[in-house]
Amino acid sequence: MPRSPPPISAPERGHMSAADPILKVSNIETYYGRIMAVRGVSLEVPRGEIVAVLGANGAGKTTILKTISGVLDPLKGSVEFDGLRIDRLDPDRIVRLGLGHVPEGREIFPFLTVEENLMMGAFARNDRDGVAADLERIHGFFPVLKARLHQRAGLLSGGEQQMLAISRAFMGRPKLLLLDEPSLGLSPLLVREIFSIIRRLNAEAGISMLLVEQNAKMALETAQHGYVLEVGRIVMADSCARLMQSQDIQEFYLGAKEAGARGERRWKKRKVWR
Ligand SMILES: Nc1ncnc2c1ncn2[C@@H]1O[C@H](COP(=O)(O)OP(=O)(O)OP(=O)(O)O)[C@@H](O)[C@H]1O
Ligand SMILES: [Mg+2]
Repeated sequence: MPRSPPPISAPERGHMSAADPILKVSNIETYYGRIMAVRGVSLEVPRGEIVAVLGANGAGKTTILKTISGVLDPLKGSVEFDGLRIDRLDPDRIVRLGLGHVPEGREIFPFLTVEENLMMGAFARNDRDGVAADLERIHGFFPVLKARLHQRAGLLSGGEQQMLAISRAFMGRPKLLLLDEPSLGLSPLLVREIFSIIRRLNAEAGISMLLVEQNAKMALETAQHGYVLEVGRIVMADSCARLMQSQDIQEFYLGAKEAGARGERRWKKRKVWR
């Protein structure tokens, strides 16, 4: 028997409800064939803010982002972006509305140059001056890309490829960016660099962000609000400051204690969250 989702207490729900969210996901259910990967998820991104979704492997983080960006259709529920229903719109329509997706594993085009990859991000635009100006801004945010503009993107390091994937999405002039594990496979130094750029894009370019991460420490330090996802369901929702204080988060996501049989203990601990 599937268990019902754990309730989120009233004060927390109130806290997460913004007056004018740029993104409002309501009770979505997404399937792969008969497998239900997202089991009734609701979340919000307040305009101008960074929101994090934490969760272990297979929790459904990527599936949520793909459902928002239109790569997958939810069977139930709705996605509202900037006041408009976008569930069941095509992904390219959604990009044109100003919602950029930096996918898991970067997915840059390795045989194209860095510049050609960036121009792919601007496919929906015809304001040539604006595109040129945004390229200039990217050179400011990512000086390493400027130096390698005419090289094949496949020759870039993992960190540089992540910068390129974020820049490519930036070229679509997003109001909201979905970031799928930007820290994946990067050294601690590069992780810090990527996150500092994410903060700058938020603060200086005013881009709202929905950030999916397994690196809980960086995500909670960067975002204002956070959700914890387990097996397709939200089990916690709160401000990042409060999430960082939570004993469950400290033990299972910030490694405060050695959790030997991590999976098993996480399930036991879930009871505390109900
Ligand atoms: N193409 C697919 N076909 C069938 N099942 C899938 C497919 N992609 C993902 N799943 C399943 O859906 C669930 C959620 O997967 P998802 O990729 O969204 O998790 P995730 O939280 O992003 O994990 P990770 O941290 O490993 O990236 C998992 O059980 C996964 O095995
Ligand atoms: Mg994933």
